Amino acid sequence: MSSRKKLIAGNWKMNKTSADGMALAREIVVEVGKLNDVEVVLCPPFTALEAVAKEIDGSQVKLGAQNMHPEPNGAFTGEISAPMLRALFATHVILGHSERRAYFAETDAFINEKVIAGLKHQLRPILCVGETLAEREAGDTLKVVQTQLEGGLAGTNKDQAASLVIAYEPVWAIGTGKVATSEQAQEVHAFIRGLLAKLYTEPVAQRMRILYGGSMKPANAAELLAQRDIDGGLIGGASLEARSFVELIKIAA
Ligand code: G3P
Repeated sequence: MSSRKKLIAGNWKMNKTSADGMALAREIVVEVGKLNDVEVVLCPPFTALEAVAKEIDGSQVKLGAQNMHPEPNGAFTGEISAPMLRALFATHVILGHSERRAYFAETDAFINEKVIAGLKHQLRPILCVGETLAEREAGDTLKVVQTQLEGGLAGTNKDQAASLVIAYEPVWAIGTGKVATSEQAQEVHAFIRGLLAKLYTEPVAQRMRILYGGSMKPANAAELLAQRDIDGGLIGGASLEARSFVELIKIAA
């Protein structure tokens, strides 16, 4: 059993108005807001960040955004910067999610700029990596994950590593109900930890959290979370409803 505290993050994606988000956050805080043995992060859409921040104030639940622009300000219509997120009390930011890579053509180099900017502004990046089904079937899973991880983390050092969270999200398991087996997930998580050890140091890599994301739900979470290198979950669908998300948190605690 590792000493790493489990982390359960809810990625609400493009769901929930601020009123819906407040209601969901309130239920979560009532149920698990005082839990100390697991870290909980809610990542609502930008429009609900402020409302959710108020609901979780005074609890152990933390706030994350789903994306950000690397520049602190400027002529970037429609974008949101790290200082703007900090001003709303966000502590985390999801970067490099496969939906942003696929639908918004985000490259490893651009994601890397965001990682660097997030760290500079005291945000904790949750860097997502993961292969598509075609890449897995071609036997390229580890190569793809390595390219994304090394690209996304370029220029970071071992002191910054403590603020980083990695999420392994096989694209074929996202929103499909098709979860990776615990062996498939553990294999990639162990590989990622090995890469982190090379990038930083072995002790630093041992302290870093690597989350699994992709159809994680109460029915499959215990087995995934029991794996040596799986330190929590980045949850999509099952984070949109208090009952399933709270159940997941309690399984991780
Ligand atoms: O970031 C979370 C994610 O992409 C997984 O989504 O709906 O398969 O839990 P889901």
